[in-house]
Amino acid sequence: AIDPQFHENREEVDEHEGHSVWGPVDEPEELGIHGTHVAVDFDICIADGACVEDCPVDVFEWIDTPGHPESEEKADPANEAQCIDCMLCVDVCPVDAIDVDAG
Ligand code: SF4
Ligand code: F3S
Ligand code: ZN
Repeated sequence: AIDPQFHENREEVDEHEGHSVWGPVDEPEELGIHGTHVAVDFDICIADGACVEDCPVDVFEWIDTPGHPESEEKADPANEAQCIDCMLCVDVCPVDAIDVDAG
C-alpha cells in the first residue's frame, strides 16, 4: 500500500502537470508517487480504473507508462485541486495505491 507518510519519507523530485512527483524515480520501471493532496503510488497502481470511473469530480486522467512492470497506464491525479475528500477512490482501489490527505 501507499505510504501515508510519503511527504516525510520521500523527496519531491519533479513536477508533472502542475503536481509534485515524489521519488525515487528511475523510468520506466520506477515512477514514484504523483500528487500531494490526492497521491497515487504509480509503482503500486495496476490500472484497475475504479478511481477514474468513480471519482465524482474527475480528478484522475489516464497517462501511458510503457515499460512499467505493474501496468502500462496509470491514474494521474491531474485535477487534485478539485478533490472534495469523499474518499471513494481510496476505498475502491484494489491495491491501496491512493492516499487522500483530508486533513
Ligand atoms: Fe475524487 Fe473523492 Fe478521491 Fe477526491 S477523494 S480524488 S473527490 S474520489
Ligand atoms: Fe490504479 Fe487503483 Fe486507480 S490500481 S487505476 S489507482 S483504482
Ligand atoms: Zn502526474
